[in-house]
Amino acid sequence: MTTTTGTSRQGIDSYMDWIKAEGIPIHEDWGIDVFAVEKGDWPRFGVKGAALHCKGRGDFNNMFALELPPGKSTVPQRHLFEAVVCVLDGRGSTQLEFADGRRRSFEWGPRSLFAIPLNAKYRHFNASGTQRALLAMTTNCPMIMNVFHNEKFVFDSDFEFDDRIGKDEYYAGEGDLAMVREGSNTWETNFVPDLAVIPLTDLSSRGAGGSSIMFILADGSMHAHISEMPAATYKKAHRHQAGTHVMCVTGTGFSLLWYPDQEDFVRIDWKPGTAFPPADRQFHQHFGTSTQPARYMACGIGSIRYPILNSQWLTLFGKGDGKVQNAHLSVKEGGDQIEYEDQDPRIHQMWLEEMRKNGVTPQMDKFIKT
Ligand SMILES: [Fe+2]
Repeated sequence: MTTTTGTSRQGIDSYMDWIKAEGIPIHEDWGIDVFAVEKGDWPRFGVKGAALHCKGRGDFNNMFALELPPGKSTVPQRHLFEAVVCVLDGRGSTQLEFADGRRRSFEWGPRSLFAIPLNAKYRHFNASGTQRALLAMTTNCPMIMNVFHNEKFVFDSDFEFDDRIGKDEYYAGEGDLAMVREGSNTWETNFVPDLAVIPLTDLSSRGAGGSSIMFILADGSMHAHISEMPAATYKKAHRHQAGTHVMCVTGTGFSLLWYPDQEDFVRIDWKPGTAFPPADRQFHQHFGTSTQPARYMACGIGSIRYPILNSQWLTLFGKGDGKVQNAHLSVKEGGDQIEYEDQDPRIHQMWLEEMRKNGVTPQMDKFIKT
């Protein structure tokens, strides 16, 4: 036995220790413009990269940016954290290789979305000799690194999760649509060619005639969905668990984030490529301010198929610890959504002011009485 006084191995953040040692830029802010932030050489991937630590991200999820210079490809990877990848810039392909030698590859372009099946070997290729390719990857790397705190295990395990590979057509932009109920309709696939044009289903309960589709990607336990607000409208405020990284795909606008006891809002102005995750149980509200519909992708911990935490997804199925989390139900009824008629009057005025500045005609009259 040894006895020490005053020192001990405590309070270790294995994820942060690891990412600092990777030597890439680490960016922290409420919202991050993935197009613009500095990327640095990332030897592990053989291209440029950055860690994106949005302030509201919680303990389990993060984002990485990967920038492939013209004509370059990444060093082959495999890892025990899930990764949902959104293409922001450029064109290229990704090749997957499974233990039995099978390969799958697909070609992506701006606004493509795909997932890396857990621990599958993969490699990204930039198809252009003149343009960069820019990928934004939302992951549960912080959770996995902090649970196992062993880099070799996370990046060098040969176990194959063959149950995550899915059908061949999932790599060709095809999928399976499950119409369940509003807010729970799912498109199961591994590759979405263009998030801007994928058909959505009604989500008017979240306000302003919005629409969405939930994704089940690579049979993963990370959540992903895309939502659309019609032009010149805004959604109702709501709250849920942390980790859901929101990233604008089309349109422009802003979001407000706040806790009930705070006088002022955190405001994030967004355009395609801006990422931000509302913090744990922090109210947030998204506002379109352009003449085109605004689409945003959201990705975080716990999928509708495999819920994690005492989340809104567990509540859907009557599970959890009994505390209702329902981001579609009014706070007046015990839920976590603020109806338009109950919102702080400053909010609508703030949006109208932005619309005036942009010269865009508001389209909220049929949804909200002023
Ligand atoms: Fe949300």
